[in-house]
Amino acid sequence: MNIKEIVKDIFYVGVNDRVKHRFEALWQLPYGVSYNSYIVAGNEKLALIDTVCIEEVRQYFNNIGSIASDRTIDYLVVNHMEPDHSASIPEIVMAYPDIRIVGNSKTIEMIKGFYHIDGPDRYLEVKDGDSIDLGGRTLRFYLTPMVHWPETMMTHVEDARVLFSGDAFGTFGALNGAVIDRDMETDVHISEMYRYYSCIVGKYGRFVEKAIQKLAALPLSYICPTHGPVWNEKITEVVELVARLAAYKSEPGVVIVYGSMYGNTAEVAEMIAREIAALGIKRIIMHNASHSDMSCMITDAFRYSTLIVGSATYSMRLFPEVESFMNAMETREIKNKVFATFSNFTWAAGAVTGKLKEYAERMKLPVSASLLVKQSAGASTPVEVKEFALQVVEAMKTMEEA
Ligand SMILES: Cc1cc2nc3c(=O)[nH]c(=O)nc-3n(C[C@H](O)[C@H](O)[C@H](O)COP(=O)(O)O)c2cc1C
Ligand SMILES: [Fe+2]
Ligand SMILES: [Fe+2]
Repeated sequence: MNIKEIVKDIFYVGVNDRVKHRFEALWQLPYGVSYNSYIVAGNEKLALIDTVCIEEVRQYFNNIGSIASDRTIDYLVVNHMEPDHSASIPEIVMAYPDIRIVGNSKTIEMIKGFYHIDGPDRYLEVKDGDSIDLGGRTLRFYLTPMVHWPETMMTHVEDARVLFSGDAFGTFGALNGAVIDRDMETDVHISEMYRYYSCIVGKYGRFVEKAIQKLAALPLSYICPTHGPVWNEKITEVVELVARLAAYKSEPGVVIVYGSMYGNTAEVAEMIAREIAALGIKRIIMHNASHSDMSCMITDAFRYSTLIVGSATYSMRLFPEVESFMNAMETREIKNKVFATFSNFTWAAGAVTGKLKEYAERMKLPVSASLLVKQSAGASTPVEVKEFALQVVEAMKTMEEA
């Protein structure tokens, strides 16, 4: 039970999930995940900020009870409606029948749709910049659409310099005892932040940038996201990290993702890596798409400057795992990358090269180099790979200088 008073009368009442294998049924959770919820107490009223996933509702009620045992909860502020935060809303409404749910028009529509909750005075609809007074303490709401859904908003407590930021600045990794960054080693959470951002929020970079600009002037000592640590000491580091990713700015490095049934495409991938290493590039990450976890491939592709994708031809198409990966790239509107492709065929020379080119065109990524191998690496392949590696590294240098 990680109850924690963050500042006077603002409490953490979130829960850990160390059971779920895949977040959103997709993304592995090697370190678990936390669903963060908070209580803000004023002299007169008490507000709960967001709820938690349904599986952890019992622990959640224990946490709330230990803070608010002798008081009712007057408001439930819903910053985000994804069910990892909203699924316990019906239980909260049942336990506190007079509670008013605070949200914008989109939030309220979604609650009705997901949970069929209605009734007079059930909702308090707020607009951008509106506030509610809890008695000596004010909650102000800022709409931040598409960070991560259209209804997303953030809640600021000005006197306490606290921002409840929803999924923004969130990260995978359960909370192992401590809640605030200054009380723990945050290396795992920071590294998981890359994966969380890339997989969950990645598509919405321009909206994240807008939100960061909008909130830049707010007094801030604590950022309280819906997943992972409460940020205090590391606010600058974390905001910069997210702003960098939102702008699709990357670190120098080469990521090679390939799919190979019988090892011939894999052999070319190894040759490419060796040649690129020989040209002095030290950060090279290789992913066999049949073996690597999709979330790790997406994260590395987001984080590093250069993406090389290789595929065997599979019934005239990309190897299925490579196709999934390219779909993930397109979905997330990956940009500002050096991009190169290699492919392997036996009887359909242009099929896979063409498919990768189509992705590149839709994503507006220039193809810096492209290599086609028939069946297996032959006498001419080493020279072709050398040339391919030179073109890739040249393009990397041009991008770094730009
Ligand atoms: C199930 C299967 C389907 C394939 N479909 C095609 C195809 O449609 N066109 C083609 O040129 N080669 C096709 N191939 C051949 C391979 O793409 C490729 O030439 C060979 O498997 C070498 O790649 P790998 O060792 O990396 O898997 C197919 C191979 C397999 C096993
Ligand atoms: Fe979300
Ligand atoms: Fe979330």
